[in-house]
Amino acid sequence: MGSQVTESVTPNDEMAENYDVIASWFLTDWHEAPRDQVAGFMQRIWEEHSPPVNKVLELCYGPGLTLRELVRRGYGVTGLDASPTQLELAKQRLGRSAQVRLVEAGLPAIPLEEQFDAVVCAGGAFTYVPNSTVLLQAFQAVHRVLRPGGTFIFDLFSEALMQRCFEYTEDAPRGINLESRGLTFFLACHRPAAKDSYDLTFVQFLRNDATQTYTRSSAVHRVHTRPQERVTDLAVQAGFRRVQVFDNYRHQPSGPETLYETYVAVKPGGPPARPEASSGRAAHPPRP
Ligand SMILES: C[S@@+](CC[C@H](N)C(=O)[O-])C[C@H]1O[C@@H](n2cnc3c(N)ncnc32)[C@H](O)[C@@H]1O
Repeated sequence: MGSQVTESVTPNDEMAENYDVIASWFLTDWHEAPRDQVAGFMQRIWEEHSPPVNKVLELCYGPGLTLRELVRRGYGVTGLDASPTQLELAKQRLGRSAQVRLVEAGLPAIPLEEQFDAVVCAGGAFTYVPNSTVLLQAFQAVHRVLRPGGTFIFDLFSEALMQRCFEYTEDAPRGINLESRGLTFFLACHRPAAKDSYDLTFVQFLRNDATQTYTRSSAVHRVHTRPQERVTDLAVQAGFRRVQVFDNYRHQPSGPETLYETYVAVKPGGPPARPEASSGRAAHPPRP
């Protein structure tokens, strides 16, 4: 009998306390972009558009790594995440900052009535969205809360990344062992029967220094890879134009080796972008 996976909107909670350590492992071994690079990329995209970006909505902010970088750059940020655990961690990370408001809500709903200059979603969070219907609903919700001409930046794990992860961990889980934090952490990737899906199993052992015992917790994250053309079509259906795909928060087009596909989509209606804005791969030609 096969194992059952229940898809959770808060699959990162088990490792939330140690997310900074785990994230640094993802930066080195899995080539995730450091969050200052992520925020720097966003800033440059926004500077190529006008009018200026001040008000940003970050979806699925997790423990606040990207959020902190945006706040450091002076943006007024609202964060939305489904997890109360992540909300508490992000609050601790950010301290008391007047520029930040954190909202607990689950996508595809965005229960906000105001409009933002930009919406972002980093760290592959949209890869968790279970199907195209929900992804389209999320894109439509983003479109609704963006001002005309506003930009939407998000990333998705690519098929190349998941294949690499699968090949690398299938026979032997990979992990980190950090004595100083009392943390041992393993990752294994499997292909379930579901098409274009991968199950990432995270197992964590955390030492309790007082009792010298370890607590084991585990979580299965089901992630879904999607062709760029499909994602772009959904963005266009939701009302976006000029959808471009970049390589992992760098100003170069995505290619077959790209591990984290970085999408930039624009809501029509604002002033035209400056010419240098178009350095990514146009995954979909603009509609006339
Ligand atoms: C990988 S973390 C994101 C990390 C963060 N963006 C960063 O840059 O480090 C994924 C986050 O998405 C949130 N999440 C997952 N599904 C969600 C949903 N349907 N609605 C809102 N938040 C969700 C989880 O609670 C978790 O905090």
